[in-house]
Amino acid sequence: MASYDVIIIGAGPGGYVSAIRCAQLGLKTAIVEGRDTLGGTCLNIGCIPSKALLHATHMLHEAEHNFAGMGLKGKSPSVDWNQMKSYKEDVVGQNTGGVEFLMKKNKIDWLKGWASIPAAGQVKVGDETHEAKNIVVATGSVPSTLPGVEVDEKVVVTSTGALDLPKVPKKMVVIGAGVIGLELGSVYARLGAEVTVVEYMDAVCPGMDKDVQRGFKRILEKQGLKFIMGAAVRGVEATKTKAKVKYSLKKKPDAEEVIDADVVLVATGRKPYADGLGLDALGVKLTERGQIATDAQWRTNIPGIYAIGDVIEGPMLAHKAEDEGMAVADVIAGKHGHVNYGVIPGVVYTTPEVATVGATEDALKAEGRKVKVGKFMFMGNARAKAVHQAEGGFVKIITDKETDRVLGAAIIGPAAGDMIHELCVAMEFGASAEDIALTCHAHPTYSEAVREAALACGTGAIHS
Ligand code: NAI
Repeated sequence: MASYDVIIIGAGPGGYVSAIRCAQLGLKTAIVEGRDTLGGTCLNIGCIPSKALLHATHMLHEAEHNFAGMGLKGKSPSVDWNQMKSYKEDVVGQNTGGVEFLMKKNKIDWLKGWASIPAAGQVKVGDETHEAKNIVVATGSVPSTLPGVEVDEKVVVTSTGALDLPKVPKKMVVIGAGVIGLELGSVYARLGAEVTVVEYMDAVCPGMDKDVQRGFKRILEKQGLKFIMGAAVRGVEATKTKAKVKYSLKKKPDAEEVIDADVVLVATGRKPYADGLGLDALGVKLTERGQIATDAQWRTNIPGIYAIGDVIEGPMLAHKAEDEGMAVADVIAGKHGHVNYGVIPGVVYTTPEVATVGATEDALKAEGRKVKVGKFMFMGNARAKAVHQAEGGFVKIITDKETDRVLGAAIIGPAAGDMIHELCVAMEFGASAEDIALTCHAHPTYSEAVREAALACGTGAIHS
């Protein structure tokens, strides 16, 4: 048994970042993780392995579609799927190993095993019970499935199984046109699978800017993804090698439609995960949606127990969890911890990437806000043309009509996930579109499109 200032449960991006910040602030810290490696869903079976597969398959796409035109002749590469998966595992290993190194460097004890909280101030791991003045629950989320759909992680898979399929399927049906469905759908479409996405709503990526939803879907269709929109999946019938996805269209709710697949990816959202902690017995309050309820400083209703990341309210994003992890450490150390939930970017790592931050044009208009919109198409950006990513992409900036202050932005284009941060910083500093427009941007860069969109909020873009 040991005594700690803080024990953090869960070593995903929320938990491990929080642990490092706690240690930096001089708190004696331990982290509990039951997986064999640190890093949680994000590093082991989420963001990181999917980015490796997106990168590898983008290279394949470039070789198949753009090499010859750039004067790179020769046979297109063939896919060694096992090697691609081992490259992905190597990337994962480098990152999870990196987190383990950071734990050691910061003198954070890794308590190996699955934790429970027998009482406030105590964390049990295996047979040992440790004392903790403060406990941070950072146990994340798991895929949520649909009624009538049984996941076997072989034929009917979640993102976990989709990252490790034994072979590339001929036909894949993706249920849900959210981030997971579109990223992993893109991977398999590039690998040659016939990918059909079945989505309940009438647009992809629910909640995103409408221009982005329309443009993004068109780009994905050009890349070969098929969409069945306004379709509610009612169930999946699977054998050991095939599946039938049953759905009904909103416009014909009584008729049952069927689509065949070799693999079905269920990507209909995730749900908070806190099983086995004993929160019920402790009386920890949950929200109606099953998340751990916290106040503005990530305190649960039980003194000394905090919660952050996917297990509480808000977008299920690694970087939101990281921010909360740092802020809760500050709170525990008696400092002021703060997260600006109005400026959390969202990124889809397809090619081109999609990135958004702040409010959408529609949401602002619905609130009765008077806004200005500046839009610039990547067709006017020299650098995007050089990398075959100009078509259909754009930067859109939404500002307050009176003050010109940036309220939101959306980008479809090359490196959108990196470029969005210029707009995040602008929003954090309360900048106007004119501030961005007056800032010198290097030429030729993709970022010039951000400046052009800012110019379009005022007197007009130059290259359109
Ligand atoms: P999601 O909530 O983004 O999308 C789920 C989609 O499934 C929705 O469009 C919904 O309308 C649809 N759907 C639900 N029930 C359906 C039914 N019966 N029939 C047809 N369609 C149905 O969920 P997703 O993609 O599974 O992602 C889960 C979480 O993980 C999200 O919070 C996401 O932000 C996060 N994530 C973030 C990534 C990133 O930032 N790049 C990458 C992967 C996941």
